Amino acid sequence: MAASRGEFSSRLGFILAAAGSAVGLGNIWGFPSQVAANGGAAFVLVYLLLAFLIAYPVLMTELAIGRFAKANTLAALKKLSIGPLSRFLSTVFGYLGVAVAALILSFYGVIAGLMLGQCLRSLLALFAVEPGLLSGTGASIFFTLVFMVLTLAIVLKGVSAGIEAWSRCLMPMLIVLLLVLIAIVLNQTGAKQGLKAYLLPDVSKLWQGELMLSAMGQVFFSLSLGVGTMLIYGSYISHRESLPKLGAWVTLVDVAIAFLAGLLIIPAMYVAMSNGVEIFDADGNLLASSQLVFVVLPELFKSLGSFGTLLSALFFAMLVLASLTSSISMLEVPVATLSEQIGIERKKAGIISVSVISALSVLLIWQGDALFELAVTASTEYGQPLMGLVFSIYLGWLWQRQSLLKELQQGSPHIAATLFWRLWPVYVKYICPLIILLIFYSSLP
Ligand code: PHE
Repeated sequence: MAASRGEFSSRLGFILAAAGSAVGLGNIWGFPSQVAANGGAAFVLVYLLLAFLIAYPVLMTELAIGRFAKANTLAALKKLSIGPLSRFLSTVFGYLGVAVAALILSFYGVIAGLMLGQCLRSLLALFAVEPGLLSGTGASIFFTLVFMVLTLAIVLKGVSAGIEAWSRCLMPMLIVLLLVLIAIVLNQTGAKQGLKAYLLPDVSKLWQGELMLSAMGQVFFSLSLGVGTMLIYGSYISHRESLPKLGAWVTLVDVAIAFLAGLLIIPAMYVAMSNGVEIFDADGNLLASSQLVFVVLPELFKSLGSFGTLLSALFFAMLVLASLTSSISMLEVPVATLSEQIGIERKKAGIISVSVISALSVLLIWQGDALFELAVTASTEYGQPLMGLVFSIYLGWLWQRQSLLKELQQGSPHIAATLFWRLWPVYVKYICPLIILLIFYSSLP
């Protein structure tokens, strides 16, 4: 993103950048792992419901606030405030968003680093070179740091043109490759059982608080909500554009790619199990859910011989690129906030943020699974939905009606859009906070 408040050059440019932020490890690593850990199709169904009931409206909230305020989260919430308390809380929530973004990036970098390692291993295997040094804690730290430096470099260069161009070919390629892999997996033994587990929900499991909390966290994570990313991206959208349409595209692309990733990985998991790979422990709990993709996919690629090695290199390279278009949008949150609010120069703000976040990543690698899972849960299941609640309340309860309506009508002159806009503020005011609070409540022990 450029430092000055520019605008996206075209509608497609925005969709690509926002979809680039949304599509990433959340879709291909997070979603299938959550499906496997939460009993399969019931999770998929709740996820899809929440995507439309809560994620899309919150996405619209962030985009509308961002486009109206043309500022980072802290300044934007301040602009909507009416009175000293809400002004003070704007600062608190502005920095909370920064903290959540930083925490997410700290574990995101670790997983993206593993993807990078996996990609290099496949490349080396293609040339029949032994990848001896590429695993273990040291390698993991190394690849995480490489990923962080790449993220920083792109953010500092000012990225909009480059990212738009990248995402333009990345997204279709990713979809094609997923489809090819799905076709291959579905022909293997065991895949049918996986397909059933993925598509036929056990309805008795639907309304469990834990499951709903996980699905809510996952949908917020996958659509990059509740950290200020989409708010900042919204601030770059021109007033001629229709927000509901833009938001709908981003949501659809994101949900579709997550769904395809599940359609690949859950059947592949059952194929691996029928080949004797252990995925669940004796109590039926998933062994290290964050590792699922790294167990299941290499098994699949191995079964395809050297063609599989090629596909593997390609697939993991694409995942690293998709992760970069997400990680830059996370890093933009602390960088924009530190530079616009405190006046630290962008370059310095970037270096400070990446140093702190990388130190956190190293700690997560060192401490192992428990702390890692805690970082994931704290940021995605609690931090992001909480910030979604904050955005809904600021928009629904504080933003003055006249100015809200004026903002909403821009770029959406058609009747359908107007009807949408008439209902939507009421939905955000009452229903969004209610759903989020209910899910928080139902997950209490
Ligand atoms: N949505 C991204 C993904 O699915 C992750 C992300 C979260 C990006 C929060 C920005 C902010 O990979």
